[in-house]
Amino acid sequence: MAKEFKRYLVTSALPYANGPVHIGHLAGVYIPSDIYTRYLRLRGRDVISVCGSDEHGVPITIKARKEGVTPQQIVDRYHALIKKSFEGLGMSFDIYSRTSSPVHAQTASDFFRKLYAEGKFIEKTSEQYYDEEAQQFLADRYIVGTCPHCQNEKAYGDQCEKCGSTLSPDELIAPHSALSGSPLVKRETKHWYLPLDKYEGFLREWILEGHKEWRPNVYGQCKSWLDLGLQPRAVSRDLDWGIPVPVEGAEGKVLYVWFDAPIGYISATKELTPDWERYWKDSGTKMVHFIGKDNIVFHCIVFPSMLKAHGEYILPENAPANEFLNLEGDKISTSRNWAVWLHEYLDEFPGKEDVLRYVLCANAPESKDNDFTWKDFQARNNNELVAVLGNFVNRALVLTQKYYGGEVPACGTLTDYDRGTLAELQAVKATLEQNIENYRFREALKEAMNVARIGNKYLADCEPWKLVKTDPERVKTILNIALQITANLSIVVEPFMPFTAAKLLAMLRLEPLDWERIGATDLVAAGHRIGTPELL
Ligand code: MF3
Ligand code: ZN
Repeated sequence: MAKEFKRYLVTSALPYANGPVHIGHLAGVYIPSDIYTRYLRLRGRDVISVCGSDEHGVPITIKARKEGVTPQQIVDRYHALIKKSFEGLGMSFDIYSRTSSPVHAQTASDFFRKLYAEGKFIEKTSEQYYDEEAQQFLADRYIVGTCPHCQNEKAYGDQCEKCGSTLSPDELIAPHSALSGSPLVKRETKHWYLPLDKYEGFLREWILEGHKEWRPNVYGQCKSWLDLGLQPRAVSRDLDWGIPVPVEGAEGKVLYVWFDAPIGYISATKELTPDWERYWKDSGTKMVHFIGKDNIVFHCIVFPSMLKAHGEYILPENAPANEFLNLEGDKISTSRNWAVWLHEYLDEFPGKEDVLRYVLCANAPESKDNDFTWKDFQARNNNELVAVLGNFVNRALVLTQKYYGGEVPACGTLTDYDRGTLAELQAVKATLEQNIENYRFREALKEAMNVARIGNKYLADCEPWKLVKTDPERVKTILNIALQITANLSIVVEPFMPFTAAKLLAMLRLEPLDWERIGATDLVAAGHRIGTPELL
């Protein structure tokens, strides 16, 4: 028997506030998390969904330097843009916070201080590259040189963007500072490390024994990390942008962005509700992290070790990481500007938010990398949303207007065929629940659309437009059933396409319906007057 949970805490990876959000982020993280959260809300569960901007880290300082502005100006700009575009897409976070908030600085500092005071860190002095002219330590990104693999002269100290290899500064040929161009020297510097090796036993037991149900890609990545053996990981950096390391003798040092960012989930919950501890400190909470595959190690190994070290907080139940979405056969890339940006989509396709939500879910990279193409976008819009969903709803509503002036006809005696159709409708609920609870959102969406398919087939087979001349009584039953199916649609599509669900309700002139009502055939009462149909 699966464990029963009293409440849910849904987190979505905090996007970096150094650029806008694109369809890869949406398909990987935000669409699935919103579907899951909306579903739980519809079922009346106690659920909160938290997110916010990830505003620290080296790339933000690099961008600021390039543009000649401060890091704060960069994050202010993108935080506002991301927040607004998420709202435009109907993302229903209970809070969209940011890691530059004072509550977050406090929460992350307290977290660090507790671990520090309890001796959970090790301190180590090591040699790091230093720029004597700029008088600062250099993050790997701030070091450039020639790539040993492809001879690209502009490779970074952590990666060559030309050939894609992962590098360390020592591998670069003729490395120098990107800040001043000066050659590098090494200097000693002290940092704090979380000894992940000490958590190996706990992680093996908790993940490899306790969470065999995690997706194969997630479980597999965790297993290979654990099999390779974990090393202590630095939780501080020499940088002037971030949360200062809150202990003495740490001038000029900040918390490593991957240390502070996941604590952002806690800070956001604190900002949302004074009751935050109920979500974080009670084992009746099911915490689920929605992330992309590049985030697996941080959410399944590092953050859980931090939480374990801290000792007061719950651990995640799952982290359903998606693979990557490509665009027209090519890797999405911010630096090459190869992406469909959410804010641009919303500007160019007003009123078509659900089409994007639909296509990105139908084609989500749940088990392997996938490709987004505009051709597929158009085909799914025309052949699925318009031809199946739109067409069915339109016929049901227009015929009701035409034959009965918009007044819902009564249901008469059911035929075997009617009963068969209604039985199909009743089977939808359990399948949907199983798929969503197991993070199979593509399958779930298919099942939701199946309701429209059932409706379409029902109308096509019954042909009320022909029968209306010979058997008007029968037509009343047919349209009553078609309207019940339409009302069912307003429930099942809500997690995926909330704008469409709202339109359906408005056209039916109904209040939102409970999830438990899926499959019911008395959602629209005989004699009820529906609104004017409009095209979906
Ligand atoms: N900003 C990171 C990324 O986009 C995700 C941070 S998730 C958090 O990959 F848990 F650290 F917040
Ligand atoms: Zn290279």
